Amino acid sequence: MLPHWEETPADLPAAIREIKAALRERIAASGRSVDEVFAVVERRVRAAADDIAAAKADGQTVWPVISYADIAAGTVPQSQLDLLKRRGCLVVRGHFEREQALRWDREIVDYVEGNHFFENYRGPGDDFFGSVGSKPEIYPIYWSTAQMEARQSVRMANVQSFLNARWKHQSEGRTWFDPDRDSLYPDRIRRRPEGADSAGLGTHLDPGTLDLWMTAAYQKAFRHLFDGSVEQYDPWDAAYRTAGPQYPGSTMCSVFRTFQGWTALSDMDHDQGVLHTVPIPEAMAYLMLRPLLDDVPDDDMCGVTVNQVFPAGNKWHPDLIAALTGIPDVKAGDSVWWHCDMIHSVAPVQDQKGWGNVMYIPAAPWCPRNETYAASVREAFLSGASPSDFPAEHYEKDWPDRFQPSQLNEIGRRGLNYTSA
Ligand SMILES: [Fe+2]
Repeated sequence: MLPHWEETPADLPAAIREIKAALRERIAASGRSVDEVFAVVERRVRAAADDIAAAKADGQTVWPVISYADIAAGTVPQSQLDLLKRRGCLVVRGHFEREQALRWDREIVDYVEGNHFFENYRGPGDDFFGSVGSKPEIYPIYWSTAQMEARQSVRMANVQSFLNARWKHQSEGRTWFDPDRDSLYPDRIRRRPEGADSAGLGTHLDPGTLDLWMTAAYQKAFRHLFDGSVEQYDPWDAAYRTAGPQYPGSTMCSVFRTFQGWTALSDMDHDQGVLHTVPIPEAMAYLMLRPLLDDVPDDDMCGVTVNQVFPAGNKWHPDLIAALTGIPDVKAGDSVWWHCDMIHSVAPVQDQKGWGNVMYIPAAPWCPRNETYAASVREAFLSGASPSDFPAEHYEKDWPDRFQPSQLNEIGRRGLNYTSA
């Protein structure tokens, strides 16, 4: 049994020293050395990075692009399914009609302006996105009709089911989540205006921090990395990921997401400060094992600590960062998705051409963790509060035209576990 901490350890350096020693010992007990196990992962990741570099040199689009029509009809070619598995990210072309997305964008402007959001804006509510700038580009707005219509749309449900089905939802004799029911995770909006200068966001991950090594559930989720069977590590297996505790923090996401995603509400060219990922799902194995090598100080997890995003960078992960790849041009109504463990960043931009507007809507399938969070989402929805994963800004509480319970359809009610409507 590995030592584990179901809540944030009081003495972080001591806990890091203890868990690193225990993980090294467990790997050694399998008859393989940490270096040997890491070399397996390194080879796998380098092969993927070489494949990506070759595709770029060849002028190919690294990000898979799949049409919504193919997803809805169940006719996505096997070659594209294979590429999606390999790259862990995709663009869904025509997820919504372009006109629909542009209408939603205008409706959001009407909603925030009509409720005097800009006059009342109190500045960034958190440190992380706060670095983006003093004018709001991230709107802490959750309950507009536009957002809720997109979240409870059949088109969104179809894409979420398709994405969830890329994962193994049953394994170890158990069912970990329901791929055909989403838990409606409310997130914010980004509207970055024409002419904007933005420093972007550095390379990071969202799935957790030290809890990924330190809780019993995550130790099981990553068991193959630590027990000498690293070849069996499957980044698409949801085993033990959908119920365990997480260490709280301002950047924490309470739900299990198969993919993070956003829907474009404006056209965006690939060189206008857009999303990048390291499109290698297995990179997570590299990130989890790298701190166990001898060159990392005993009380350091390659910079990962609680209450901050999980950093990835050239200091410890140069093989990975070299594969960083941006999305292709997208149009309003396209959506963009990436595996929940993947390294991602937002490129800087100077004097941006056109708008950069997105609605963040992930795929967060129904599971015990997401059911628990849905109860607090339902409360926030009814009162117009900010959801508990986000700063307590509560701008919309008194906005009369926010989305109402009577406007929920079957998908929306199911996503909120709404039984009394
Ligand atoms: Fe992120």
